[in-house]
Amino acid sequence: MKTVNVGIIGGGLMGREMASAFARWCALTEVTVAPRLVAVADLNPATLEWFKIIPTATQRVTDYAELLANPAVDVVYVAVPHHLHERIYADVLAAGKDLFAEKPFGIDLASARRIAEAARASGRFVRCSSEMPFFPGAQRALAVARSGKIGRVLGAVSGFHHSSDLDPTKPANWKRTNATCGEGGVLNDLGMHACHLPLRLGWKPKRLFAQLQRGSPERPDGRGGVAACDTWDNAQLHAWADIGGEETPLRLEMKRLAPGATNTWFFELLGTEGGVRFSTAEPKTLWLFERGKEQWWKRTELGFATPFKTVTGGIFEPGFPDVIQQMWAAFLMERAGELGGRFGCATPEEAVASHEIFAAALASHREQRIVIL
Ligand SMILES: NC(=O)c1ccc[n+]([C@@H]2O[C@H](COP(=O)([O-])OP(=O)(O)OC[C@H]3O[C@@H](n4cnc5c(N)ncnc54)[C@H](O)[C@@H]3O)[C@@H](O)[C@H]2O)c1
Repeated sequence: MKTVNVGIIGGGLMGREMASAFARWCALTEVTVAPRLVAVADLNPATLEWFKIIPTATQRVTDYAELLANPAVDVVYVAVPHHLHERIYADVLAAGKDLFAEKPFGIDLASARRIAEAARASGRFVRCSSEMPFFPGAQRALAVARSGKIGRVLGAVSGFHHSSDLDPTKPANWKRTNATCGEGGVLNDLGMHACHLPLRLGWKPKRLFAQLQRGSPERPDGRGGVAACDTWDNAQLHAWADIGGEETPLRLEMKRLAPGATNTWFFELLGTEGGVRFSTAEPKTLWLFERGKEQWWKRTELGFATPFKTVTGGIFEPGFPDVIQQMWAAFLMERAGELGGRFGCATPEEAVASHEIFAAALASHREQRIVIL
């Protein structure tokens, strides 16, 4: 097993999720590379304290320049607010490190394009985080979409729903202001999840009409005061894409005001002969449509059929931490040239394409018109 030394910049929600995925790497059986977390940078000393439970994470610094100067670090994962993406990603590349970037890969389209250009010019291995397609149900849906066996495609839906903003008393964080989350708001926050699979399938929208909705205009700031919130919270993008050689309706949805939904990623594809539906709300349930003399929606209880196999085989059901770990396995194995036909992480090109969709959605809503991409 080869070891890759990883540094994390931004040890908040996602920084810690990634660290815990590394800590149970022994669950994977088909990998020839293992990550070792050696360094963490975060502005908050209390956050750095948490990383003391990981014995290999001996470099814990508030200034990320120190992490980048550490010659032992091979790969840097960056999970910071969106307005800091471009600067820190550029610094990682300039330090000669490979980069696992968080979505949305820059605060807006121009930023994403500059990051992608810096990545290309650096020659470093760069991918963008998007874990939901690593669910076994998502992989099966991908296989159905690629099979060409569902007849004429009637439409597809891909989305990500949260109810995280329904409670108006929930304190604001940086994701609720345009200055730090970006003008895209929920598009920046959840859009990559909705766009990744359609883009991988080549279904880039040709034109779209967007409906955007705002959330609470203000929230508690967590310090006894009130914070103004100006981001879009819900987005429905009604698009047309070439699917199966025909222009086809494709709906992309991302919501932080979706009653009842908690981190729910879903994908549906319907054709005249067949179809598929998967939602992480039912993480081991795959629905397949078939049409004969009668019509059927067949329900399959999926096992743990992840791209990379695990010690316990197929008998359990998958969850968020599992697909995070699968995504890292894909990142490290692709970097080592050993992905072997499995699903790879989102590329810089896909990240830029997702921003092209977000920019078109913003223009569409602003001008109340269909935007051609
Ligand atoms: N892939 C996913 O499913 C997923 C889920 C949530 C968030 N994200 C993405 O991850 C990124 C971070 O989101 P989060 O929810 O973890 O945020 P967070 O607020 O929980 O954590 C961000 C961390 O960055 C630190 N930080 C800020 N500026 C810094 C700097 N200059 N140097 C070092 N550290 C700094 C903060 O102290 C904080 O600990 C965002 O891009 C977000 O969109 C991805």
